[in-house]
Amino acid sequence: MKSVRLGVIGLGNIGRHHANYLHAGQVCRGELTAVCTSVPNKAAAFPGVRSFVGAEDLMTSGLVDAVIVATPHYQHTGLGIAALERGLHLMVEKPISAHKADAERLISAARVHPELVFAAMFQLRVEPRYLVIRNLVQSGELGEITRVNWVMTDWYRTEAYYSSGGWRATWRGEGGGVLLNQCLHNLDILQWILGMPLRVRGFCQLGRFHNIEVEDQVSAYFEYRNRATGIFVSSTGEAPGTNRLEITGTRGRLILEQDKLGLIRNETDVLEFSKQAKSGFAKPETHYETIAFGSVENPHAVLIENFVNAILDQQPLQAPGQEGIHSIELANGILFSSLLNQTLEFPIDGAAWETELQRLVAGSKHKKQMIQVDTDDFTASFRK
Ligand SMILES: NC(=O)c1ccc[n+]([C@@H]2O[C@H](COP(=O)([O-])OP(=O)(O)OC[C@H]3O[C@@H](n4cnc5c(N)ncnc54)[C@H](O)[C@@H]3O)[C@@H](O)[C@H]2O)c1
Repeated sequence: MKSVRLGVIGLGNIGRHHANYLHAGQVCRGELTAVCTSVPNKAAAFPGVRSFVGAEDLMTSGLVDAVIVATPHYQHTGLGIAALERGLHLMVEKPISAHKADAERLISAARVHPELVFAAMFQLRVEPRYLVIRNLVQSGELGEITRVNWVMTDWYRTEAYYSSGGWRATWRGEGGGVLLNQCLHNLDILQWILGMPLRVRGFCQLGRFHNIEVEDQVSAYFEYRNRATGIFVSSTGEAPGTNRLEITGTRGRLILEQDKLGLIRNETDVLEFSKQAKSGFAKPETHYETIAFGSVENPHAVLIENFVNAILDQQPLQAPGQEGIHSIELANGILFSSLLNQTLEFPIDGAAWETELQRLVAGSKHKKQMIQVDTDDFTASFRK
């Protein structure tokens, strides 16, 4: 195989974006050969590319080696398993599934097919600022991590956004709100840098800013194995939004605020300093530095190229599909904790959350209002 023939399943906001850059030849050795959607007339826009209605025909066409699943969340598991069973490499959009139990089903199916590449679309993992932060934390430059605070409220969405798809912001169609959709990317980065916490207490407000039944405002408190603490805040109702990530360790602090990254280094580890200081009010000397980082033009395309390289050259994946369960576990855990009004330990009980979700679906009385919206500005929502 000299190149990978790719099929895109689902041609909404993100599926169309994937198809556009693939069709424009922006992924080396990645060729768009087929697309499919559940809405027939939407597929016609890619000359030379076969279009199908429904995923089954695309998957059995013999025209693709790999698929990108870009449908609403609940369909990721079934379509993902179907693709693997047909011998196709799989890139699944985030979240890899609508809830933890489904993610386990998808991961089990991937385990049966170790010869196939299974990846997840967490494109923030290729962004230099997060790579730099991860490297600084994991190389021990900050010492032992004691606290993380991430206020990520730069996910403002209007009522028109929620009215643009029947599945959006519903228990039945999406399985959650801001946690599972927008800030799932940040939850993935959080666990990618710091690992999973031991426990969580979540506080979620359902339909606080919008006419929706799921959460659009969230605060969560985490505790980690080494007793580090974490605060995570997100919202789709705040403008101007904030993106401020602060990670404190015994040797200093990192602060990412929007597009600026600063590092304050302690000359001496604070725990050592505390033991040795003769004065009760002394503090370690500090040095501040601004850390420059580059940018990538199209992070989605970079991650797809990594997927293609993994298929052709066994290059390690930057976002293995199996790792997609962690952000779901965090999103489900925060919401479940809030609904139960109690602290939850990780790993959460995926079957219990699935049952709770089914109860929410069955009890839903929300009436969705649908409107046709302009999606030209969709790509402006990417850089977070
Ligand atoms: N990685 C990112 O930056 C990013 C950005 C946006 C959305 N997403 C994720 O991508 C997924 C889709 O989001 P969206 O905003 O594009 O949704 P959307 O509603 O705009 O599009 C979904 C598309 O899937 C199609 N579809 C539904 N069921 C199908 C099926 N069985 N077979 C084929 N096509 C089917 C629909 O016709 C529609 O065109 C979601 O899981 C979302 O979380 C990821």
